[in-house]
Amino acid sequence: MNLPEPSSVHRVGIIGAGTIGASWAAYFLARGMEVQAWDPAPDGEAALRAFVAGAWPVLEGLDAVVDGATPDRLAFHSGPAAAIEGVEFVQESAPEKLDVKRALYAEIDAVLPDGVVMSSSTSGLIMSELQAGFSNAARFVVGHPFNPPHLIPLVEVVGGTDTSATVVDWTIGFYDAHGKKAIRLNHEAPGHLVNRLQAALWREAMDAVLTGLASVEDVDDAIKYGPGLRLSAMGPFELCHLAGGPGGFSNFLDHFGDALQHWMDDMRTVELTPEVRTKLKALVAEAIGERAFASVAAERDTLMLPVLSTLARTRREHGLY
Ligand SMILES: NC(=O)c1ccc[n+]([C@@H]2O[C@H](COP(=O)([O-])OP(=O)(O)OC[C@H]3O[C@@H](n4cnc5c(N)ncnc54)[C@H](O)[C@@H]3O)[C@@H](O)[C@H]2O)c1
Repeated sequence: MNLPEPSSVHRVGIIGAGTIGASWAAYFLARGMEVQAWDPAPDGEAALRAFVAGAWPVLEGLDAVVDGATPDRLAFHSGPAAAIEGVEFVQESAPEKLDVKRALYAEIDAVLPDGVVMSSSTSGLIMSELQAGFSNAARFVVGHPFNPPHLIPLVEVVGGTDTSATVVDWTIGFYDAHGKKAIRLNHEAPGHLVNRLQAALWREAMDAVLTGLASVEDVDDAIKYGPGLRLSAMGPFELCHLAGGPGGFSNFLDHFGDALQHWMDDMRTVELTPEVRTKLKALVAEAIGERAFASVAAERDTLMLPVLSTLARTRREHGLY
């Protein structure tokens, strides 16, 4: 398989330019690339250009725009075949529906240029099912970003049954070469890895408010004023290692293992029945209160952008990538 040098890729195709595809487009443009996009929505081009225009100053503020990069390198095309003509990589961010993606893949499969990998943003569909039967299946892979991809570095990479191992390696190398932080999943799983980790947290958060252990506000505060702060710097295993003192993770398990087992045994699986959903919606609506959606989003951005900027700069300065 004749794939380009990952760092040399300078023209990418964006298929589907909604929440995620538009964010990917802004990211690749900020990396100085040419972006060829397609989205079937009637206002697809206008919405994409508006998104990129809004994201650009934020990316500049984060020092994430490389020298010479410009939003003018964005071209919008009339269909998937035109959008992937001449590209060296495709990021697919079509709706999360197996039949929609497979119909799209059939169109792309017929024209995917040689040596071009197509990576799917899918949050939880299984690549083995997405790629089955296509002649270019070996070059179809999952590159699941964390929303919004123009700001959050993580991409989870996993291949399906028919994806070539070379393609998985190449895709990780491609994302890493262009400023993302790619992780490798060794096999497929519903929700990949990160959404499963999040689901574990959401399960406990929901259980806590359903059983009356704490209010919605206190559960949110518990994370954002506590573990959330450390989790932006260290992963769960690194934190366990530190919790064990100089004896590290081994000491942590020896000292806290029985307690941890007791807590885990006490945890329940939340069943999201209609009644439970109604109750959760009411509790969260009450906690959010009169705060408009846009003001909650603005609060997140006001707090997150300096954190992202500081982490990126400090990691660069200390060689901590
Ligand atoms: N929203 C998230 O938080 C998030 C995070 C990570 C990954 N993803 C994944 O990204 C993908 C896109 O999700 P989204 O949130 O951007 O959805 P979205 O609904 O915002 O965007 C989907 C876009 O695809 C377009 N579209 C419709 N039919 C299409 C077709 N046949 N071919 C190509 N494009 C088509 C739509 O016009 C729309 O602009 C999904 O696979 C989703 O699982 C979403």
